[in-house]
Amino acid sequence: MSPAVESTAAKSLVADGLVAGYGGQPVLHGVGFTARAGEILTVVGPNGSGKSTLIKTVVGLIRPMAGRILLDGRDITPLSPAQRAAAGIGYVPQEANVFPNMTVLENLRLGLDFLQTKGSTAFEERLAEVLDLFPEIGGKLSARAGLLSGGQRQMVAMASALMPEPAVLALDEPSAGLSPRNAELLFEIISRIARSGVTLFLIEQNTRLGLGASDHGLVLVSGEVRLAGKAADILATPDIRRLYLGGA
Ligand SMILES: Nc1ncnc2c1ncn2[C@@H]1O[C@H](COP(=O)(O)OP(=O)(O)OP(=O)(O)O)[C@@H](O)[C@H]1O
Ligand SMILES: [Mg+2]
Repeated sequence: MSPAVESTAAKSLVADGLVAGYGGQPVLHGVGFTARAGEILTVVGPNGSGKSTLIKTVVGLIRPMAGRILLDGRDITPLSPAQRAAAGIGYVPQEANVFPNMTVLENLRLGLDFLQTKGSTAFEERLAEVLDLFPEIGGKLSARAGLLSGGQRQMVAMASALMPEPAVLALDEPSAGLSPRNAELLFEIISRIARSGVTLFLIEQNTRLGLGASDHGLVLVSGEVRLAGKAADILATPDIRRLYLGGA
C-alpha cells in the first residue's frame, strides 16, 4: 500500500554538514542551509559545483557520508526517497522529468497515484487547483507530454509534483532551456506556489532571475557554500559573477 501524505502545510527544510558524492572523493564538503517554511531558497553556482548532487541528497537519491537533513525539525536522513516524498518532499529533476509517451492527464494522475490512492473526486479537485496555477496545460490534457514545448513540459513536471500537495518542492533548474520570457513566467508561477504554502528549494542557472524571486540564496562552489544569506544581499554582492559564478 502506498504511504499517505502527512501534511499539506509548508515545512522548513534544513541541511547540516552534508558530505556526499558518488563513491569516490566527495562532491559536497559539509554543506548546510536553512529554508524556512513557505520561503524560496535558491542555490546558484558554476557547472559541476555540486548543485544537482545537493538536491539529490536532499530528496534521498544519494546517501550522505555525513550530515543530516531535517524536515520541520524531524531528521529524515534515514528515509528512502519514497518515504521522503510521503513526508512531503516533491522533486522535479533536471532532466527526464515527465513520462513522454503518456498524456498530460496521465502524468498528473501518476503524480498523485505515486503517493496514495484517492477517490476520483479528490483527484478532480486537486487537478482543478493545480491547473489554476498552470492554465497553459489545461488545454493540453490529452496531448502526449513528449510532444509539448520545453516550457510546457516543465509545467507538467511541476504540476505532477504538486498533485500530492507537498510541503516542500525541490526543483533542479526549472528554467533550463526556456526563453527569457517563459523563464520569467515560470518564476511568477513559482512565487505563487510559495505563497500558496509550499517551501521552495531551487537550483537555478539564471542567477538574477532565481535570486530575484527568492527570499534567501546560497552560492555553491566546488561543493562548498561560499556565500549564504538574503537573496537580495547576494545579488548586490560586488563582482559576484566574476568571483563565484565563472561568468562575465
Ligand atoms: N552519477 C555520477 N557519478 C559520478 N560523478 C558524478 C555523477 N553525477 C555528477 N558527478 C560529478 O559530481 C560533480 C558535481 O556534479 P553536479 O551534477 O552535482 O553539478 P551541478 O552543479 O549540478 O552542475 P550543472 O550546473 O552542470 O548541472 C561533477 O564533478 C560531476 O562530474
Ligand atoms: Mg545540475
